[in-house]
Amino acid sequence: MPVLSESEFRAVFGRPHEFHCFAPGRVNLIGDHTDYNGGSVFPCAIDLGIECMAARRSDGRFGFYSANFPQTGVAERCPDQPVQSDCWSDYPMAVIRTFRQFGYPPECGADFLFKGNLPDGAGLSSSAALEVLTGIMLRELWHLSVTNQQIAVFGQFAENRFIGVNCGIMDQFASAMGRNGQALLLDTFTLDVNYAPIDADTASVVIVNSGVKHSLASSAYNTRRKECEAALSCIDAQKKIPALCSLSMEEFDGLQSCVKDETCRRRARHAVSENSRTAAAAEALRKGDFAGFGRLMNESHVSLRDDYEVSCAELDFLASAAWKMPFVYGARMTGGGFGGCTVNLVRRGYEQAFSDEIKKAYAGQFNINCEIYRVAPGEGAHRINEKGG
Ligand code: GLA
Repeated sequence: MPVLSESEFRAVFGRPHEFHCFAPGRVNLIGDHTDYNGGSVFPCAIDLGIECMAARRSDGRFGFYSANFPQTGVAERCPDQPVQSDCWSDYPMAVIRTFRQFGYPPECGADFLFKGNLPDGAGLSSSAALEVLTGIMLRELWHLSVTNQQIAVFGQFAENRFIGVNCGIMDQFASAMGRNGQALLLDTFTLDVNYAPIDADTASVVIVNSGVKHSLASSAYNTRRKECEAALSCIDAQKKIPALCSLSMEEFDGLQSCVKDETCRRRARHAVSENSRTAAAAEALRKGDFAGFGRLMNESHVSLRDDYEVSCAELDFLASAAWKMPFVYGARMTGGGFGGCTVNLVRRGYEQAFSDEIKKAYAGQFNINCEIYRVAPGEGAHRINEKGG
């Protein structure tokens, strides 16, 4: 059911909307911090996301209003202003600037109304959803023939170049290219994608929000990326490789001593081991081996906690509490880290039991009520209705 209605657009902008689209958030089942190391990721789009309604305007300017942040009012922006204003409207503006950079200058201005049900700062890719959503709105407004995959690439460019987070392609790709009932195994080096159904009769994807906002994440994220680049250049001096994740675990073991810095060596070990776990997990899912998939998820958490150091006490607690439950196949932190969510693969029929137990345990330890989302792998960004031009 759409969350936005015509009357809401009219109340803010005083005229009817022309286009209405949706872009989902994502949850990553396995394969974190591999997407900027040339490795594979295994996310799915989820059925939580953001909707947007828009109508063209003739003065070339852009108006942005979010029903989730009404206190900001309508942010009026012109395409030549710098993007960095520390307002959420930086994200759509960054995408508009990116389109121009790639040869699609604004054909007209527009007013945008956004409303979503994705928790903000929870690591479920609300920023990527906003970027992809803006991209598909621009496609409608300016009658462009760009594909969803190109829009994902533009979204990543917008985030790298204008927002200043050197993220990989996973989040935007999942939001743009997700499919109902399926996870997507994406090779981030080639952008080859293989869809993999998740048997909903056997397992459910349940997300637990630690409530810890990953606000420090962008600077620490960029540091992790630099550490991986430093490790890559040490290894590359010994053996020419295009990316850390082109190494097998065995090859890495043979080469790791040339990375003298211990921290950089551990970062690289995570990238290589996570990439091989991701391939193994995709194979396990293909065979219907949920227990095997779950074990790899658990190992992924340990590697993110110890080698990559992007977890936190709350996420560690949530993951290990889930590991003790007999109806949980696997549990791990998901996404960039430093807060945000865990993803749990729960045996079908035990979702409520899982939810009750994890809530109780978390409240007992941290005195925080955690939010739980039982999500279904959903469709990527798409238009909601046909109206006007
Ligand atoms: C963030 C980034 C992604 C990816 C994950 C970690 O979500 O936006 O590109 O690197 O962290 O896997």
